[in-house]
Amino acid sequence: MQQNIVFSEKARELQAIAKEIADKYVRPNAAKYDKIQEYNFEAAQAVAKAGLFRTFIPKEYGGHGAGVLALALVAEELAKADSGFGVAFAVNALGSFPIILGGTEEQKKKFLPQIAAGDKFVAFCLSEKFAGSDASGLAVRAFDRGDHYEICGEKKWTTNGGVADIYSVFAVTDPTSKSRRISAFIVEKGTPGFEIKKVEDKMGIRCVPVVETHFDHVKVPKENLIGGRAGMGFKHAMMTLDFARPGVAAQAVGASQGAMDLANVYANRRQQFGVPISQHQMVQKMLADMSMKTEAARQLVYAAAAGIDDVGPSPANSKMAALAKCFATDVAMEVATDAVQVFGGYGFMEDYPIAKFFRDAKILQIYEGTNQIQRLVIARHMIREAGELDILQQYIPTETQEPYHQVEAAQA
Ligand code: CAA
Repeated sequence: MQQNIVFSEKARELQAIAKEIADKYVRPNAAKYDKIQEYNFEAAQAVAKAGLFRTFIPKEYGGHGAGVLALALVAEELAKADSGFGVAFAVNALGSFPIILGGTEEQKKKFLPQIAAGDKFVAFCLSEKFAGSDASGLAVRAFDRGDHYEICGEKKWTTNGGVADIYSVFAVTDPTSKSRRISAFIVEKGTPGFEIKKVEDKMGIRCVPVVETHFDHVKVPKENLIGGRAGMGFKHAMMTLDFARPGVAAQAVGASQGAMDLANVYANRRQQFGVPISQHQMVQKMLADMSMKTEAARQLVYAAAAGIDDVGPSPANSKMAALAKCFATDVAMEVATDAVQVFGGYGFMEDYPIAKFFRDAKILQIYEGTNQIQRLVIARHMIREAGELDILQQYIPTETQEPYHQVEAAQA
Protein backbone atom coordinates (compact mmCIF):
# COMPACT_ATOMS: atom_id res chain seq x y z
CA MET A 1 0.00 0.00 0.00
CA GLN A 2 1.11 3.55 -0.77
CA GLN A 3 2.45 5.10 2.47
CA ASN A 4 3.12 8.70 1.47
CA ILE A 5 0.59 10.62 -0.54
CA VAL A 6 2.46 13.39 -2.30
CA PHE A 7 0.47 16.08 -4.08
CA SER A 8 2.35 17.63 -6.98
CA GLU A 9 2.19 21.39 -7.44
CA LYS A 10 0.31 20.74 -10.67
CA ALA A 11 -2.30 18.61 -8.89
CA ARG A 12 -2.90 21.36 -6.31
CA GLU A 13 -3.13 23.97 -9.09
CA LEU A 14 -5.70 21.89 -10.98
CA GLN A 15 -7.67 21.33 -7.77
CA ALA A 16 -7.84 25.09 -7.18
CA ILE A 17 -9.03 25.70 -10.75
CA ALA A 18 -11.68 22.99 -10.38
CA LYS A 19 -12.93 24.63 -7.19
CA GLU A 20 -13.24 28.00 -8.96
CA ILE A 21 -15.20 26.46 -11.83
CA ALA A 22 -17.38 24.51 -9.42
CA ASP A 23 -18.22 27.68 -7.48
CA LYS A 24 -18.83 29.80 -10.58
CA TYR A 25 -20.44 27.46 -13.15
CA VAL A 26 -21.48 24.22 -11.49
CA ARG A 27 -23.14 24.82 -8.10
CA PRO A 28 -25.24 27.86 -9.17
CA ASN A 29 -26.78 25.84 -12.03
CA ALA A 30 -26.96 22.38 -10.46
CA ALA A 31 -30.69 22.56 -9.66
CA LYS A 32 -31.55 23.85 -13.13
CA TYR A 33 -29.74 21.10 -15.04
CA ASP A 34 -31.09 18.47 -12.65
CA LYS A 35 -34.62 19.68 -13.32
CA ILE A 36 -34.38 19.95 -17.09
CA GLN A 37 -32.07 16.90 -17.41
CA GLU A 38 -29.63 18.68 -19.67
CA TYR A 39 -25.87 18.76 -19.91
CA ASN A 40 -24.11 21.79 -18.46
CA PHE A 41 -22.15 22.77 -21.58
CA GLU A 42 -21.19 26.12 -20.08
CA ALA A 43 -19.36 24.42 -17.20
CA ALA A 44 -17.83 21.81 -19.54
CA GLN A 45 -16.50 24.61 -21.74
CA ALA A 46 -15.01 26.31 -18.68
CA VAL A 47 -13.39 22.99 -17.73
CA ALA A 48 -11.98 22.64 -21.26
CA LYS A 49 -10.75 26.23 -21.38
CA ALA A 50 -9.02 25.88 -18.03
CA GLY A 51 -7.24 22.76 -19.29
CA LEU A 52 -8.79 20.34 -16.80
CA PHE A 53 -9.41 17.67 -19.46
CA ARG A 54 -5.61 17.62 -19.84
CA THR A 55 -5.27 16.37 -16.24
CA PHE A 56 -5.32 12.62 -17.02
CA ILE A 57 -3.78 12.72 -20.53
CA PRO A 58 -0.02 12.01 -20.75
CA LYS A 59 2.19 15.01 -21.53
CA GLU A 60 3.38 13.62 -24.87
CA TYR A 61 -0.23 13.75 -26.17
CA GLY A 62 -1.08 17.27 -25.09
CA GLY A 63 -2.02 16.53 -21.49
CA HIS A 64 -0.68 17.63 -18.12
CA GLY A 65 0.29 14.05 -17.28
CA ALA A 66 -0.81 14.87 -13.75
CA GLY A 67 -2.04 11.34 -13.02
CA VAL A 68 -4.89 9.66 -11.21
CA LEU A 69 -4.40 11.56 -7.93
CA ALA A 70 -4.86 14.89 -9.73
CA LEU A 71 -7.87 13.44 -11.57
CA ALA A 72 -9.32 12.50 -8.17
CA LEU A 73 -8.78 16.00 -6.77
CA VAL A 74 -10.51 17.61 -9.75
CA ALA A 75 -13.42 15.13 -9.74
CA GLU A 76 -13.88 15.68 -6.01
CA GLU A 77 -14.08 19.47 -6.34
CA LEU A 78 -16.58 19.31 -9.20
CA ALA A 79 -18.71 16.67 -7.46
CA LYS A 80 -18.80 18.75 -4.27
CA ALA A 81 -20.89 21.22 -6.25
CA ASP A 82 -22.83 18.69 -8.35
CA SER A 83 -22.18 14.96 -8.29
CA GLY A 84 -23.66 14.63 -11.79
CA PHE A 85 -21.20 17.12 -13.19
CA GLY A 86 -18.42 15.26 -11.36
CA VAL A 87 -19.16 12.14 -13.37
CA ALA A 88 -19.72 14.14 -16.56
CA PHE A 89 -16.06 15.10 -16.16
CA ALA A 90 -14.64 11.81 -14.82
CA VAL A 91 -16.28 9.64 -17.48
CA ASN A 92 -13.97 11.25 -20.03
CA ALA A 93 -11.09 9.63 -18.18
CA LEU A 94 -12.92 6.29 -18.06
CA GLY A 95 -13.46 6.42 -21.83
CA SER A 96 -9.87 7.53 -22.48
CA PHE A 97 -8.07 4.97 -20.32
CA PRO A 98 -8.50 2.10 -22.84
CA ILE A 99 -6.59 4.25 -25.36
CA ILE A 100 -4.04 5.51 -22.82
CA LEU A 101 -3.38 2.04 -21.38
CA GLY A 102 -3.80 -0.15 -24.44
CA GLY A 103 -3.86 2.02 -27.57
CA THR A 104 -1.30 2.03 -30.35
CA GLU A 105 0.99 5.04 -30.80
CA GLU A 106 -1.09 6.13 -33.81
CA GLN A 107 -4.35 5.90 -31.81
CA LYS A 108 -2.86 7.91 -28.96
CA LYS A 109 -1.54 10.58 -31.34
CA LYS A 110 -4.85 10.81 -33.16
CA PHE A 111 -7.35 10.86 -30.30
CA LEU A 112 -5.69 11.95 -27.04
CA PRO A 113 -4.77 15.54 -28.02
CA GLN A 114 -8.40 16.23 -29.01
CA ILE A 115 -9.60 14.86 -25.67
CA ALA A 116 -6.95 16.83 -23.76
CA ALA A 117 -8.05 20.07 -25.43
CA GLY A 118 -11.68 19.38 -24.55
CA ASP A 119 -12.57 19.45 -28.25
CA LYS A 120 -13.95 15.92 -28.00
CA PHE A 121 -15.79 14.24 -25.14
CA VAL A 122 -15.53 10.54 -24.45
CA ALA A 123 -17.77 7.65 -23.35
CA PHE A 124 -17.23 4.03 -22.33
CA CYS A 125 -19.52 1.34 -23.77
CA LEU A 126 -19.13 -1.90 -21.84
CA SER A 127 -22.48 -2.76 -20.18
CA GLU A 128 -25.36 -4.37 -22.01
CA LYS A 129 -28.94 -5.31 -21.11
CA PHE A 130 -27.85 -8.81 -20.14
CA ALA A 131 -24.23 -8.09 -19.18
CA GLY A 132 -23.74 -5.67 -16.27
CA SER A 133 -21.71 -7.16 -13.42
CA ASP A 134 -20.76 -10.11 -15.65
CA ALA A 135 -18.74 -7.93 -17.98
CA SER A 136 -17.32 -10.86 -19.94
CA GLY A 137 -20.81 -12.02 -20.92
CA LEU A 138 -21.17 -9.48 -23.72
CA ALA A 139 -23.35 -10.15 -26.77
CA VAL A 140 -22.44 -7.19 -29.02
CA ARG A 141 -20.45 -8.68 -31.92
CA ALA A 142 -17.63 -7.24 -34.00
CA PHE A 143 -17.09 -9.22 -37.19
CA ASP A 144 -13.76 -9.17 -38.99
CA ARG A 145 -14.59 -8.17 -42.56
CA GLY A 146 -11.03 -8.12 -43.89
CA ASP A 147 -10.28 -4.43 -44.19
CA HIS A 148 -12.64 -3.36 -41.38
CA TYR A 149 -14.74 -4.60 -38.45
CA GLU A 150 -18.53 -4.54 -38.44
CA ILE A 151 -20.17 -3.96 -35.05
CA CYS A 152 -23.73 -5.17 -34.39
CA GLY A 153 -25.82 -4.97 -31.21
CA GLU A 154 -26.86 -2.69 -28.36
CA LYS A 155 -25.10 -1.21 -25.35
CA LYS A 156 -26.85 -0.06 -22.19
CA TRP A 157 -26.15 2.74 -19.67
CA THR A 158 -23.60 4.66 -21.69
CA THR A 159 -22.83 7.71 -19.55
CA ASN A 160 -22.13 10.84 -21.64
CA GLY A 161 -23.77 9.15 -24.65
CA GLY A 162 -24.81 11.70 -27.26
CA VAL A 163 -22.58 14.38 -25.78
CA ALA A 164 -19.47 12.29 -26.43
CA ASP A 165 -17.66 12.24 -29.77
CA ILE A 166 -15.42 9.24 -29.07
CA TYR A 167 -16.70 5.89 -27.71
CA SER A 168 -14.57 3.04 -26.35
CA VAL A 169 -16.70 0.06 -27.34
CA PHE A 170 -16.23 -3.54 -26.16
CA ALA A 171 -17.48 -6.29 -28.44
CA VAL A 172 -17.09 -10.03 -28.97
CA THR A 173 -14.68 -10.92 -31.77
CA ASP A 174 -14.12 -14.59 -30.91
CA PRO A 175 -17.14 -16.26 -29.30
CA THR A 176 -15.27 -19.59 -29.10
CA SER A 177 -12.49 -18.23 -26.89
CA LYS A 178 -12.79 -17.99 -23.10
CA SER A 179 -10.04 -15.52 -22.33
CA ARG A 180 -9.71 -13.73 -25.70
CA ARG A 181 -13.41 -13.32 -26.58
CA ILE A 182 -13.58 -9.55 -26.43
CA SER A 183 -11.89 -6.70 -28.28
CA ALA A 184 -12.06 -2.94 -27.76
CA PHE A 185 -12.72 -0.41 -30.51
CA ILE A 186 -12.84 3.34 -30.92
CA VAL A 187 -16.12 4.37 -32.55
CA GLU A 188 -16.59 7.97 -33.56
CA LYS A 189 -19.86 9.89 -33.40
CA GLY A 190 -21.45 10.12 -36.83
CA THR A 191 -20.23 6.72 -38.02
CA PRO A 192 -23.13 5.36 -40.15
CA GLY A 193 -25.29 2.89 -38.21
CA PHE A 194 -24.14 4.17 -34.80
CA GLU A 195 -27.10 5.74 -33.01
CA ILE A 196 -28.22 6.95 -29.61
CA LYS A 197 -31.63 5.37 -29.04
CA LYS A 198 -33.01 5.60 -25.52
CA VAL A 199 -32.07 8.52 -23.27
CA GLU A 200 -32.74 7.26 -19.75
CA ASP A 201 -34.97 9.11 -17.27
CA LYS A 202 -32.93 8.82 -14.08
CA MET A 203 -33.33 9.12 -10.32
CA GLY A 204 -30.12 11.15 -10.00
CA ILE A 205 -27.09 12.56 -11.87
CA ARG A 206 -29.72 13.99 -14.20
CA CYS A 207 -27.40 16.58 -15.76
CA VAL A 208 -25.40 13.92 -17.57
CA PRO A 209 -27.03 11.75 -20.24
CA VAL A 210 -27.11 7.98 -19.81
CA VAL A 211 -28.26 6.29 -23.01
CA GLU A 212 -28.56 3.14 -25.06
CA THR A 213 -26.13 3.05 -27.97
CA HIS A 214 -27.13 0.98 -30.99
CA PHE A 215 -24.76 -0.46 -33.57
CA ASP A 216 -26.44 -1.41 -36.81
CA HIS A 217 -23.70 -2.96 -38.96
CA VAL A 218 -21.30 -0.17 -37.99
CA LYS A 219 -18.14 -0.24 -40.10
CA VAL A 220 -15.09 0.47 -37.97
CA PRO A 221 -11.69 0.80 -39.62
CA LYS A 222 -9.10 -1.77 -38.53
CA GLU A 223 -6.89 1.01 -37.19
CA ASN A 224 -9.58 1.67 -34.54
CA LEU A 225 -9.10 -1.76 -32.93
CA ILE A 226 -7.58 -0.63 -29.62
CA GLY A 227 -3.98 -1.81 -29.36
CA GLY A 228 -4.17 -3.32 -32.85
CA ARG A 229 -4.72 -6.81 -31.41
CA ALA A 230 -8.01 -8.67 -31.18
CA GLY A 231 -8.87 -10.46 -27.94
CA MET A 232 -7.36 -7.92 -25.55
CA GLY A 233 -10.64 -6.15 -24.77
CA PHE A 234 -11.50 -7.73 -21.42
CA LYS A 235 -8.03 -7.03 -20.01
CA HIS A 236 -8.23 -3.45 -21.29
CA ALA A 237 -11.66 -3.07 -19.66
CA MET A 238 -10.44 -4.43 -16.31
CA MET A 239 -7.29 -2.29 -16.30
CA THR A 240 -9.37 0.74 -17.24
CA LEU A 241 -11.75 0.14 -14.35
CA ASP A 242 -8.82 -0.19 -11.94
CA PHE A 243 -7.58 3.22 -13.10
CA ALA A 244 -11.01 4.87 -13.19
CA ARG A 245 -12.49 3.62 -9.90
CA PRO A 246 -10.48 6.07 -7.76
CA GLY A 247 -12.07 8.81 -9.90
CA VAL A 248 -15.60 7.68 -9.14
CA ALA A 249 -14.57 7.19 -5.52
CA ALA A 250 -13.33 10.79 -5.49
CA GLN A 251 -16.67 11.86 -6.93
CA ALA A 252 -18.22 10.13 -3.91
CA VAL A 253 -15.90 12.00 -1.52
CA GLY A 254 -16.93 15.28 -3.16
CA ALA A 255 -20.59 14.32 -2.92
CA SER A 256 -20.16 13.45 0.78
CA GLN A 257 -18.38 16.71 1.51
CA GLY A 258 -20.99 18.71 -0.42
CA ALA A 259 -23.90 17.11 1.45
CA MET A 260 -22.14 17.40 4.81
CA ASP A 261 -21.30 21.08 4.29
CA LEU A 262 -24.96 21.87 3.56
CA ALA A 263 -26.08 19.90 6.63
CA ASN A 264 -23.51 21.68 8.79
CA VAL A 265 -24.59 25.15 7.69
CA TYR A 266 -28.25 24.25 8.11
CA ALA A 267 -27.71 22.69 11.55
CA ASN A 268 -26.11 25.91 12.74
CA ARG A 269 -29.01 28.00 11.42
CA ARG A 270 -32.10 25.94 12.14
CA GLN A 271 -33.46 26.61 15.62
CA GLN A 272 -35.47 24.10 17.64
CA PHE A 273 -36.04 24.12 21.41
CA GLY A 274 -34.58 27.65 21.45
CA VAL A 275 -31.11 26.79 20.12
CA PRO A 276 -29.54 25.87 16.75
CA ILE A 277 -30.04 22.13 16.23
CA SER A 278 -26.24 21.75 16.05
CA GLN A 279 -26.34 22.23 19.84
CA HIS A 280 -28.29 18.98 20.24
CA GLN A 281 -26.08 15.97 20.84
CA MET A 282 -27.94 13.66 18.50
CA VAL A 283 -27.38 16.09 15.63
CA GLN A 284 -23.75 16.51 16.70
CA LYS A 285 -23.31 12.74 16.47
CA MET A 286 -24.60 12.78 12.90
CA LEU A 287 -22.31 15.65 11.94
CA ALA A 288 -19.29 14.02 13.58
CA ASP A 289 -19.98 10.65 11.93
CA MET A 290 -20.33 12.33 8.53
CA SER A 291 -17.02 14.09 8.99
CA MET A 292 -15.21 10.98 10.24
CA LYS A 293 -16.43 8.78 7.39
CA THR A 294 -15.82 11.39 4.70
CA GLU A 295 -12.25 11.98 5.84
CA ALA A 296 -11.53 8.24 6.06
CA ALA A 297 -12.91 7.80 2.53
CA ARG A 298 -10.84 10.72 1.25
CA GLN A 299 -7.58 9.28 2.61
CA LEU A 300 -8.34 5.85 1.15
CA VAL A 301 -9.16 7.35 -2.26
CA TYR A 302 -5.99 9.45 -2.31
CA ALA A 303 -3.91 6.41 -1.31
CA ALA A 304 -5.50 4.29 -4.08
CA ALA A 305 -4.90 7.02 -6.67
CA ALA A 306 -1.33 7.68 -5.51
CA GLY A 307 -0.56 3.97 -5.69
CA ILE A 308 -1.60 3.88 -9.34
CA ASP A 309 0.53 6.94 -10.12
CA ASP A 310 3.41 5.28 -8.32
CA VAL A 311 3.53 1.83 -9.92
CA GLY A 312 0.77 1.63 -12.53
CA PRO A 313 -1.34 -1.49 -13.02
CA SER A 314 -0.77 -4.09 -10.28
CA PRO A 315 -2.86 -6.52 -8.22
CA ALA A 316 -2.31 -4.33 -5.15
CA ASN A 317 -3.63 -1.27 -6.98
CA SER A 318 -6.59 -3.21 -8.35
CA LYS A 319 -7.52 -4.14 -4.79
CA MET A 320 -6.98 -0.59 -3.52
CA ALA A 321 -9.16 0.81 -6.31
CA ALA A 322 -11.96 -1.57 -5.31
CA LEU A 323 -11.52 -0.76 -1.60
CA ALA A 324 -11.68 2.96 -2.30
CA LYS A 325 -14.62 2.75 -4.70
CA CYS A 326 -16.65 0.56 -2.39
CA PHE A 327 -15.90 2.40 0.85
CA ALA A 328 -16.21 5.95 -0.50
CA THR A 329 -19.46 5.30 -2.34
CA ASP A 330 -21.06 3.53 0.63
CA VAL A 331 -19.98 6.51 2.73
CA ALA A 332 -21.52 8.93 0.23
CA MET A 333 -24.88 7.16 0.50
CA GLU A 334 -24.71 7.14 4.32
CA VAL A 335 -23.67 10.78 4.52
CA ALA A 336 -26.36 11.89 2.06
CA THR A 337 -28.96 9.96 4.10
CA ASP A 338 -27.86 11.59 7.36
CA ALA A 339 -27.66 15.00 5.72
CA VAL A 340 -31.31 14.69 4.65
CA GLN A 341 -32.10 13.68 8.24
CA VAL A 342 -30.46 16.87 9.55
CA PHE A 343 -32.70 18.89 7.24
CA GLY A 344 -35.72 16.97 8.57
CA GLY A 345 -38.97 17.58 6.69
CA TYR A 346 -37.32 20.21 4.53
CA GLY A 347 -34.73 17.65 3.43
CA PHE A 348 -37.41 15.52 1.84
CA MET A 349 -38.58 18.41 -0.35
CA GLU A 350 -37.00 19.38 -3.63
CA ASP A 351 -37.10 23.04 -2.47
CA TYR A 352 -33.77 22.36 -0.75
CA PRO A 353 -30.58 21.17 -2.51
CA ILE A 354 -30.02 18.24 -0.15
CA ALA A 355 -32.64 15.95 -1.75
CA LYS A 356 -30.61 16.03 -4.96
CA PHE A 357 -27.47 14.92 -3.12
CA PHE A 358 -29.44 11.94 -1.82
CA ARG A 359 -30.79 11.04 -5.29
CA ASP A 360 -27.36 11.49 -6.86
CA ALA A 361 -25.61 9.30 -4.29
CA LYS A 362 -27.37 6.02 -5.10
CA ILE A 363 -25.77 5.44 -8.49
CA LEU A 364 -22.30 5.69 -6.93
CA GLN A 365 -22.86 2.29 -5.32
CA ILE A 366 -23.93 0.84 -8.67
CA TYR A 367 -21.85 2.12 -11.57
CA GLU A 368 -18.20 1.36 -12.36
CA GLY A 369 -18.88 -2.00 -10.77
CA THR A 370 -21.54 -2.50 -8.09
CA ASN A 371 -20.27 -2.52 -4.54
CA GLN A 372 -21.05 -6.24 -4.46
CA ILE A 373 -18.55 -6.66 -7.34
CA GLN A 374 -16.00 -4.49 -5.50
CA ARG A 375 -16.28 -6.77 -2.48
CA LEU A 376 -15.87 -9.79 -4.75
CA VAL A 377 -12.70 -8.25 -6.25
CA ILE A 378 -11.36 -7.44 -2.77
CA ALA A 379 -12.10 -10.93 -1.45
CA ARG A 380 -10.44 -12.57 -4.49
CA HIS A 381 -7.29 -10.55 -3.81
CA MET A 382 -7.44 -11.48 -0.12
CA ILE A 383 -7.75 -15.18 -0.94
CA ARG A 384 -4.63 -14.89 -3.11
CA GLU A 385 -2.81 -12.97 -0.36
CA ALA A 386 -3.60 -15.73 2.15
CA GLY A 387 -0.99 -17.82 0.31
CA GLU A 388 1.65 -15.25 1.27
CA LEU A 389 0.77 -15.48 4.96
CA ASP A 390 2.11 -19.00 5.48
CA ILE A 391 4.07 -17.91 8.54
CA LEU A 392 0.74 -17.68 10.37
CA GLN A 393 -0.09 -21.37 9.75
CA GLN A 394 1.82 -22.42 12.88
CA TYR A 395 -0.39 -20.23 15.06
CA ILE A 396 -3.62 -21.80 13.81
CA PRO A 397 -3.74 -25.43 14.98
CA THR A 398 -5.45 -27.91 12.71
CA GLU A 399 -8.52 -29.64 14.05
CA THR A 400 -6.38 -32.55 15.37
CA GLN A 401 -3.58 -30.48 16.98
CA GLU A 402 -3.27 -29.21 20.55
CA PRO A 403 -5.23 -25.99 21.18
CA TYR A 404 -3.15 -22.84 20.64
CA HIS A 405 -3.11 -21.75 24.32
CA GLN A 406 -1.78 -25.19 25.43
CA VAL A 407 1.16 -24.95 23.00
CA GLU A 408 1.84 -21.46 24.37
CA ALA A 409 1.74 -22.72 27.97
CA ALA A 410 4.09 -25.65 27.18
CA GLN A 411 6.60 -23.27 25.60
CA ALA A 412 6.56 -20.89 28.60
N1 CAA B 1 -6.46 -6.26 -14.64
C1 CAA B 1 -6.00 -7.01 -15.67
N2 CAA B 1 -6.56 -8.20 -16.00
C2 CAA B 1 -7.57 -8.65 -15.24
C3 CAA B 1 -8.09 -7.91 -14.16
C4 CAA B 1 -7.48 -6.67 -13.85
N3 CAA B 1 -7.91 -5.92 -12.83
N4 CAA B 1 -9.12 -8.60 -13.59
C5 CAA B 1 -9.25 -9.73 -14.32
N5 CAA B 1 -8.32 -9.76 -15.30
C6 CAA B 1 -8.09 -10.83 -16.29
C7 CAA B 1 -7.78 -12.14 -15.55
O1 CAA B 1 -6.40 -12.25 -15.27
C8 CAA B 1 -8.24 -13.17 -16.56
O2 CAA B 1 -7.24 -13.31 -17.56
P1 CAA B 1 -6.91 -14.75 -18.24
O3 CAA B 1 -8.18 -15.17 -18.89
O4 CAA B 1 -5.81 -14.43 -19.18
O5 CAA B 1 -6.54 -15.64 -17.11
C9 CAA B 1 -9.44 -12.51 -17.20
O6 CAA B 1 -9.29 -11.09 -17.01
C10 CAA B 1 -10.77 -12.94 -16.60
O7 CAA B 1 -10.73 -12.64 -15.22
P2 CAA B 1 -11.80 -13.19 -14.19
O8 CAA B 1 -11.88 -14.68 -14.29
O9 CAA B 1 -11.50 -12.60 -12.85
O10 CAA B 1 -13.16 -12.59 -14.78
P3 CAA B 1 -14.65 -12.71 -14.29
O11 CAA B 1 -15.50 -13.04 -15.43
O12 CAA B 1 -14.72 -13.59 -13.06
O13 CAA B 1 -15.05 -11.19 -13.90
C11 CAA B 1 -15.21 -9.21 -12.60
C12 CAA B 1 -14.36 -10.40 -13.09
C13 CAA B 1 -14.29 -8.50 -11.64
C14 CAA B 1 -16.47 -9.63 -11.88
C15 CAA B 1 -15.57 -8.30 -13.82
O14 CAA B 1 -16.52 -8.92 -14.65
C16 CAA B 1 -16.06 -6.93 -13.39
O15 CAA B 1 -15.27 -6.05 -13.05
N6 CAA B 1 -17.41 -6.69 -13.43
C17 CAA B 1 -17.95 -5.39 -13.18
C18 CAA B 1 -18.10 -4.63 -14.46
C19 CAA B 1 -18.12 -3.15 -14.24
O16 CAA B 1 -17.43 -2.61 -13.40
N7 CAA B 1 -18.89 -2.45 -15.06
C20 CAA B 1 -18.94 -1.03 -15.00
C21 CAA B 1 -19.31 -0.46 -16.32
S1 CAA B 1 -18.68 1.16 -16.55
C22 CAA B 1 -19.69 2.20 -15.73
O17 CAA B 1 -20.53 1.85 -14.98
C23 CAA B 1 -19.33 3.63 -15.91
C24 CAA B 1 -20.37 4.63 -15.89
O18 CAA B 1 -21.51 4.44 -16.24
C25 CAA B 1 -19.95 5.95 -15.45
